[in-house]
Amino acid sequence: MLYNHNPTLTDVPKAIDESRQGETVYWEQVMPGPPSRKRFYIESYGCQMNFSDSEIVAAVLAEDGYAPTRILEESDLILINTCSIREKAEETVRKRLRLFDAVKRQRPGVLVGVLGCMAERLKKKFLEEEKLVDIVVGPDAYRDLPKLVANAEDGEKGINVFLSREETYADISPLRLDSNGVSAFISIMRGCDNMCSFCVVPFTRGRERSRDAFSIVAEATHLFEQGYREVTLLGQNVDSYKWQNPETGKVVSFAELLEMVALVHPHLRVRFTTSHPKDMTDEVLYTMARHDNICKYIHLPVQSGNSRILQLMNRTYDREWYLQRIEAIERILPDCAISSDIITGFCTETEEEHRDTLSIMERANYAMSYMFAYSERPGTLAAKKYRDDVPEEVKKRRLNEVIHLQNQISLRHNQADIGKTFEVLIEGDSKRSKDEFKGRNSQNKMLVFPKQPGLTPGDYVRVRVVAATTATLLGEIVS
Ligand code: 5AD
Ligand code: SF4
Repeated sequence: MLYNHNPTLTDVPKAIDESRQGETVYWEQVMPGPPSRKRFYIESYGCQMNFSDSEIVAAVLAEDGYAPTRILEESDLILINTCSIREKAEETVRKRLRLFDAVKRQRPGVLVGVLGCMAERLKKKFLEEEKLVDIVVGPDAYRDLPKLVANAEDGEKGINVFLSREETYADISPLRLDSNGVSAFISIMRGCDNMCSFCVVPFTRGRERSRDAFSIVAEATHLFEQGYREVTLLGQNVDSYKWQNPETGKVVSFAELLEMVALVHPHLRVRFTTSHPKDMTDEVLYTMARHDNICKYIHLPVQSGNSRILQLMNRTYDREWYLQRIEAIERILPDCAISSDIITGFCTETEEEHRDTLSIMERANYAMSYMFAYSERPGTLAAKKYRDDVPEEVKKRRLNEVIHLQNQISLRHNQADIGKTFEVLIEGDSKRSKDEFKGRNSQNKMLVFPKQPGLTPGDYVRVRVVAATTATLLGEIVS
């Protein structure tokens, strides 16, 4: 799962959003916001799935008459969509809650709600420990928010952490927050059945379930009509997507879904994340090869390069099997970039086993990785079965080695692109200058290049790479 290392405020939409009727409408039009209208403010932490869920929450609240605000101090309802994946993620949330407390004290009547994984993990404890939290809502209970908010307004604290086997929010049209109007996320499944021993997700997000394939295609089509040019299919384990059509009994696999979305329009790019190596079949790779608009980029978390550690992690593959998947990608999709998630210092990991992680990174030639020191999470299989026995400073040192190596590999990977020309989807102005655009190539690399008149975000351009850093390719438009 892609992870946001520096969680920032989820910006409330500046520009366009979609209406349920299928026409482009501006936020100001959707939300004329008479002064009496109640306002909600939402912050999101953690994975893309959480950011995507916040867009569902925003849609549910908008339907209930709430208008969004970016200004914490003017909100009537403060929501924080939380992450439990590592202890640090939870600490960040607790810090923010203390700040919200101060706002609450200044403006009595303001409600604070905790959403997402931490809500699910801590349940009632949240209301007991954090006295000033009014509402606690787990990832499958967002439809219940209006009722919980109404009760809280009457002074009754509310909690719903029911985990569902069916909920996919398929019928809710997300209210696009912080949108660049070019790329959007589409949630295609929820939950996770994998039971990796380090991971809290199966406990906080429940059982795996796939969303109606036709509702996904409809959402992608709708986004394309709105001017979006890139969709990322989201889930904790997208490549195990499997949806059975209740009318025909036919089962749609992930490869088939990818194809259905790719066929929406050749100018709509399709990405997906996160994949589990065990489900990354040749069928998926061949489907990617058949469609130019399915981006040639796979996030394929390895976690560790050592087979014994992988077994303790319950990843269900070993080093050789993972490398055989890498070979399949190289064979079927020669221009595909691969990225990874890596954990250092998992229970009982030795120096030699750590070096296996370094060597698999070299072999897989990851374009980039998200790298973490192991953080024991209460209730997980690892917490129950193994001792968290690698000292903190060893975990950190190994993490630094992994980061150092990834920086070298990323730079090499990027330098190999110098002189190549890529099709780039323009996303907007570069961070540095209004005279430059930024956009990604199919391999998910960010390119920065001088603007040319007549081009706008959402356009495709051909860009030749002239220089590279670890994180960015610098280029120029070729006509
Ligand atoms: N400690 C450290 N990293 C973790 N991840 C998941 N659980 C933990 C944990 N307990 C990492 C994995 C996963 C990514 C989203 O976060 O690498 O792929
Ligand atoms: Fe996402 Fe996992 Fe964090 Fe939940 S715990 S927000 S699923 S990364």
